[in-house]
Amino acid sequence: QTVYLADYTPFGYGVEDVHLTVRLDPGKTRVQSRIRFAPNPEAQDRDFFLHGEELTLLWAKIDGAAVTPQLSDQGLRCTVPDGPFIWEAEVEIAPESNTALEGLYMSNGMYCTQCEAEGFRKITFYPDRPDVMAVFTVRIEGPHPVLLSNGNPVDSGEGWAEWHDPWPKPAYLFALVAGDLVNHPDRFTTMSGKEVELNIWVRPGDEGKCAFGMQALKASMRWDEEVYGREYDLDIFNVVAVDDFNMGAMENKGLNIFNSAAVLASPETSTDANFERIEAIIAHEYFHNWTGNRITCRDWFQLCLKEGLTVYRDSEFTSDMRSAPVKRIGDVIDLRARQFPEDQGPLSHPVRPESFQEINNFYTATVYEKGAEVIGMLKRLVGDEVYAKALTLYFDRHDGQACTIEDWLKVFEDVTGRDLTQFKRWYSQSGTPHLQVAERFENGTFTLTFKQRTPPTPGQDEKLPQVLPIAVGLLSPSGDEVVPTTLLEMTEAEQSFDFGGLSERPVASVLRGFSAPVVLERAASRQERLFLLAHDTDPFNRWEANRALAQESLIASITGAEAGPDTAWLSALLEVVKNAAQDPAYRALLLGLPSQSELAQALHQRGVTPDPDSIHAAAEAHRQTRAELWQADLPMLARETEVTAPFRPDAEQAGKRALGSSLLAMQSRLDGGAAAQAQFDGADNMTAQLSALTSLITIGAADSALRAFEKQWRHDRLVMDKWFGVQIAYAPPAMAVEMAGLLTEHPAFDMKNPNRFRAVFGALAGNHAGFHRADGAGYDQLADWLIKLDAKNPQTAARMCSAFQTWRRYDADRQARMRAALTRIADTPGLSRDSTEMVTRMLG
Ligand code: ARG
Ligand code: ZN
Repeated sequence: QTVYLADYTPFGYGVEDVHLTVRLDPGKTRVQSRIRFAPNPEAQDRDFFLHGEELTLLWAKIDGAAVTPQLSDQGLRCTVPDGPFIWEAEVEIAPESNTALEGLYMSNGMYCTQCEAEGFRKITFYPDRPDVMAVFTVRIEGPHPVLLSNGNPVDSGEGWAEWHDPWPKPAYLFALVAGDLVNHPDRFTTMSGKEVELNIWVRPGDEGKCAFGMQALKASMRWDEEVYGREYDLDIFNVVAVDDFNMGAMENKGLNIFNSAAVLASPETSTDANFERIEAIIAHEYFHNWTGNRITCRDWFQLCLKEGLTVYRDSEFTSDMRSAPVKRIGDVIDLRARQFPEDQGPLSHPVRPESFQEINNFYTATVYEKGAEVIGMLKRLVGDEVYAKALTLYFDRHDGQACTIEDWLKVFEDVTGRDLTQFKRWYSQSGTPHLQVAERFENGTFTLTFKQRTPPTPGQDEKLPQVLPIAVGLLSPSGDEVVPTTLLEMTEAEQSFDFGGLSERPVASVLRGFSAPVVLERAASRQERLFLLAHDTDPFNRWEANRALAQESLIASITGAEAGPDTAWLSALLEVVKNAAQDPAYRALLLGLPSQSELAQALHQRGVTPDPDSIHAAAEAHRQTRAELWQADLPMLARETEVTAPFRPDAEQAGKRALGSSLLAMQSRLDGGAAAQAQFDGADNMTAQLSALTSLITIGAADSALRAFEKQWRHDRLVMDKWFGVQIAYAPPAMAVEMAGLLTEHPAFDMKNPNRFRAVFGALAGNHAGFHRADGAGYDQLADWLIKLDAKNPQTAARMCSAFQTWRRYDADRQARMRAALTRIADTPGLSRDSTEMVTRMLG
């Protein structure tokens, strides 16, 4: 059942309009459809096939006459007239037993939908493909105070409501919500003066957690007008929070549906990181209104057309709302943690995949985050002004269409006159390019020679050179910038660039701002890195120099090349961290260490088999030494991070708290947890409370705090997810599996809730040495639970299978145990298509 990009053909029929009547009932919902079809002049094939899964067809008619279609478990086929005709049908579905959370389902008594990518076919028979766009009118009947669908409200009465969405859309953007909900209302006046009614709908009790999301929504609407010239296009914009949701959120036209974790926020229950993520997801879903909805995808292979661009847009928004360097560094940390392992392992696939079995398996870090990097590179290559022109042309030319990456690139070719044939390899070639740099200085000319090489990935043995935008600056030995940031455009496998007229050998700052998503292989000396940490004018590269120093020091301890951390560097870093003129958020980032998984990857790349226990031990020793070395300065630094003003979730306060949390973790290693316990007891916001709790867990002194936390928050599902997660994530490796096992016995553990399942098993997979326990207990436990979850919720189970994607990095014994776990999943009778595809790809 593999689907190929190369096999695309348009559907034989266009849809003029759709009328749906949905009569809600937990076990027997009736969906009646009336759809006007007309032959599609662009298509040859006249096969009338409508997708439909898990539907009971009650009756069907064409132009008013009963028909008997041929049914299969994928859909139905029917003989139809040559010209336009009206299709009518009624089906029955059972939302209450829908645990896959795809199609129409129930969550805490409310009805909601998730149709992307192919969930609409579980609601009614339809050509469920994004290139079929239609105007929808929806009537909902049910005894619920709130009945919502896409578009504008038409009319409503006791037990019914009717909605009309004037903008043609693919079925994946359909949504319906019904329940006993309360709203947090507001208004927005668009740039042309139109009034829009805004609502965030939540379960009673959550009204107090909507204000921040609403502010973020209004800021997003304004930003998209100011920066991209995009105005909202309906009278109303509704957002709904749902507790059971497979992903973060969904951009359904005029009716965005959110995982409650991605919208509900309050200072007492949400961390600063939660606030920032919520702001970004609200923006992301809102921005989809133009990049995704008004211009959608021709087929699911083009997913990055809307996702890469929309992630890029939301990252620009966050950079504007908060600190651009801090956002960039955070994004690169995330890219290396999630996208690099994917791109460098058995699940590697191009930003635009060429085949799939289950499209839900391709909502990946590669499609989203590498997809966004590709947009960023394009913008860097053409410049800000040309990028703006190209986007205006894109919206003008393709509004109302279902497009491809070819359409997107053609816009840039037309605006710039450039040939983007080679650049397009970013969409088709998988794997992370490695970039080597060599330098030479002769007669006042400094030469940088780059070599690029992309290791083979599954199905792609030969790699071609990519277009790499490489931002470079040069510093004099005294620390002055002698060449400001310059963009080099590398197109060859090996290429040199000269900088003339220099009086002395400069120090190069290469790949500023992480201008291309590559692995930079640069044999810089420790001295040079310390110099860049002190002097680089590019904030990303200053951070990067420090990151490289941290990684070198840790790797030296892991491999036994050095007995302990590089204390000279730690002293230099302390001076930087003490510089009060620096943004505290940035200083907090300098205190971060590469994760244990990232260290394992770095060792593997150097041909060393990573041992999770030694990695863990080295990281612990490093943290302990650092705390001892900085002991005298910690109290003064901590005082500087105190926030006296009332809580605000903005970048300024969040930065102080982030730095404070890192310092508290250090302090706890020295004072037995006294400072952390005090902070825990006095905390009036979740950032302070949770960072104190994790500090206490790390040093094994959290028993009473964990009990107090549970008692305080047992009524709040989102906060309890944190409680479940941190106990496993920060557990000593030898205890992580037992802790996860114990917590699955807790009365509040509910495997059907994706947030709760991820809180436990995402945390287990994230406890590197705990998950990779030598006896394989981590692998076995995760496999057991993935098998159980797969029977209920294939999508979430399949995503979490990727915890095993790095299995080939490790020693033969661990590899054998992981292979056995994967094989056991693969051999499970009735395993879903989702999980089957994932484990088969991983086994190779
Ligand atoms: N389009 C959504 C977003 O990026 C993601 C929804 C994906 N859902 C899924 N089941 N694959 O915001
Ligand atoms: Zn998206």
